[in-house]
Amino acid sequence: MSGARAEVADYLQRRFGRRFCVLTNRGTTALTAALRALDRPTGAAALFPAVLCSIPVFAARFAGWTPVFADVNLTDANFDPTDVARVLRECNGRVGAVVPVHMFGRMDDVERLEKMAAAAGAAVIEDLALSLGAERDGRPAGSVGTMACLSFVRKMIPLEMGGAVMTDDPELARRARDFIESLPPLRPGEGAETAAALRAFHALTGFVAAGDWRRRELLDGFEGEFRRLFLARTADADWDARTVVAEIEKLDDVLRARRARAEVYETALHHPGAVPLDRGGSALFAYPVRLKGWTAEDLLDFAAEQGYTFRRIAYPDIHPVFGPRRPMPNAATIEREIVGLPLDDDRPVSEFWGYAADFDKMLGAYESVAPHRTPPDTRGRLEMRMGGLS
Ligand SMILES: Cc1ncc(COP(=O)(O)O)c(C=O)c1O
Repeated sequence: MSGARAEVADYLQRRFGRRFCVLTNRGTTALTAALRALDRPTGAAALFPAVLCSIPVFAARFAGWTPVFADVNLTDANFDPTDVARVLRECNGRVGAVVPVHMFGRMDDVERLEKMAAAAGAAVIEDLALSLGAERDGRPAGSVGTMACLSFVRKMIPLEMGGAVMTDDPELARRARDFIESLPPLRPGEGAETAAALRAFHALTGFVAAGDWRRRELLDGFEGEFRRLFLARTADADWDARTVVAEIEKLDDVLRARRARAEVYETALHHPGAVPLDRGGSALFAYPVRLKGWTAEDLLDFAAEQGYTFRRIAYPDIHPVFGPRRPMPNAATIEREIVGLPLDDDRPVSEFWGYAADFDKMLGAYESVAPHRTPPDTRGRLEMRMGGLS
């Protein structure tokens, strides 16, 4: 490797204190390569938290792994360690990878997960797509797991291409690189097709969920197309090192800006019905608030009836898409009760005061009517919600 790619890889190695960095066209490919590098027999299980975006789960399928799920906790919406222990026990050596996704930008307890995973013969792969810049106990997200996967595509980093696998293990790095090199080259101009495929997938997921997941096999047809659209190798010429490094360097400013907006919520949200989740060290992909006992979608419906539009950054309780249904009570609660309030750093802080005050007022108005409302049937409204202030 030489030129632009080497420059970006060197930069990331230094930034995260990692020995090896393999660049990819996007986060999905990074996760697929990381799993392939573990070199487990086909069908080995990759353990995900039950609430997440479905794309990383597709990565497991692309790699020939079987996704399995553990429930999340209600403190920060990351893995519930008790449920992780249960799944590791029940799978009896079949789990080869535990994949924390650092929900809403808050880093999971990777050191603890590493100990649990190691005792079960599994590795931890950190997925940093939503949490670049997060830290926990003085250690940055991406520096703790056996491998860490980055995405530069329209999440923490606003680029249209790019991702990486980082590790300290030369053999894992070599296998990840070999896998990436075996992929077809990146085809320029396929962005619109990929975006359309994602929209179609989310719409279809909603349809399948509305039918109580009975039509789940309808989703199978997407896998081949997603693989074709997502997994590609990049060349030096695809990379502009200066732009990528500049965007990653901007992250500190972005996090400062998000913190300023989170402080507005901390100051302006008073209603006891909304309890913020733990955000310690978070990269603040959103500001998560739990509406204890209320249904977030109903609150948003009520707000709309009053002429207000609030958007919710929410992740579906995705596990029924990919596996047998098992009760995941906390995941169901997170899907029902969590509102991820937006922290768009491209909107002035001043706008957040009005937004937060309106939201607080809405909670007060909703409180008196909530017991008399019939909670909506939210099945089928489960597609990922990404919303900004407007
Ligand atoms: C947690 C998480 N990991 C990985 C990905 C995939 O990253 P990319 O879009 O770069 O393929 C996503 C995409 O939304 C994600 O939310």
